[in-house]
Amino acid sequence: MSKAIEAKGLVKRYQTKERYGFFKSKVEVVEALRGVSFTVNYGEIVGLLGPNGAGKTTTIKILSTLLLPDEGEAYVAGYNVVKEPSEVRKHIGLMLTVERGFYGKLTGRENLEYFAALYGLEREYAKKRIDYLIKLLELDKLGGDYKLFEEFSLGMRARLSLARALLSNAPVLLLDEPTLGLDPPSARRIRELVKNLAHEEKKAVLYTTHNMFEAEIVCDKILLINKGVIVASGTPGELKAKLPKLKVLILSLYGQSVENLQRTLGDLGLKHEISSELNIHTVRIHVQRPEDIFNDLVKKLVSSGFELLSARIEEPTLEDVFIYFSEGYL
Ligand SMILES: Nc1ncnc2c1ncn2[C@@H]1O[C@H](COP(=O)(O)OP(=O)(O)O)[C@@H](O)[C@H]1O
Ligand SMILES: [Mg+2]
Repeated sequence: MSKAIEAKGLVKRYQTKERYGFFKSKVEVVEALRGVSFTVNYGEIVGLLGPNGAGKTTTIKILSTLLLPDEGEAYVAGYNVVKEPSEVRKHIGLMLTVERGFYGKLTGRENLEYFAALYGLEREYAKKRIDYLIKLLELDKLGGDYKLFEEFSLGMRARLSLARALLSNAPVLLLDEPTLGLDPPSARRIRELVKNLAHEEKKAVLYTTHNMFEAEIVCDKILLINKGVIVASGTPGELKAKLPKLKVLILSLYGQSVENLQRTLGDLGLKHEISSELNIHTVRIHVQRPEDIFNDLVKKLVSSGFELLSARIEEPTLEDVFIYFSEGYL
């Protein structure tokens, strides 16, 4: 079977006008995608994983024909996104993070009925499909049959949005951060469903997220994207195997200043990452043999006024892989 999604060298530039003074403005060009290529097969969930501003939404918008690429080409279900946009639209289910188009004064069911009519679905089919989807997303249990959309929680809105993406039973699903900001049960339900859709119903899913944990548990394959470039790809396991043989030494420290901590670690030439909450700092250090540096390091930290609360050694996570590939960090 042909590929469900094929992106070849996609480039997208945005022009933004920045006004300064009364009459002056300068045009700035943001290169959101800088030659993005990948494929997605039917039956597979491919995760586009990257931080804010990496180019995830731009990619989804190009594949769903909402934006035109400046360079490169893309095919969805075999159709060219620039030359055959209406065919592409017939073959995709789209879920965007910021949902527009739902009617506040209609119930969840009524909204779906509206969209089913808009998509030209046959009435009997639509009715059955809507019943099915409302149950599938547990919207009935949450009051989706009588609550107005404007009364929906974020989790219910996301569920309704996924239900809408599934209305026409399209073979290719484009889901842009579908669980962003959701309550854990809604996020879990959506992840489970997406897995079933790909693995049981053989749909092709492109799933964007900035959450490593989520990418690892949901996706069969991951594309790491940073600043408009895919910096690495593979299964979660393959990505981790691409790292040089490093361990992560994780220290939890109590003490006054982060700057002081950064300086002490920098002086020792250790590549590190610090996250702090109040006066408790968690330091992740990438080294080949943590046991070789441990004693010296702790001595230095203690003499700089830090108290060691805990220490452990872990295998690198997907996040370490990401930092390694996108920042050239290690
Ligand atoms: N409409 C727009 N106008 C100007 N710049 C934009 C626009 N949309 C996105 N960008 C910029 O393009 C880059 C990629 O954005 P986006 O695709 O939304 O990333 P992501 O979804 O990964 O957070 C960012 O630098 C963003 O600021
Ligand atoms: Mg986005």
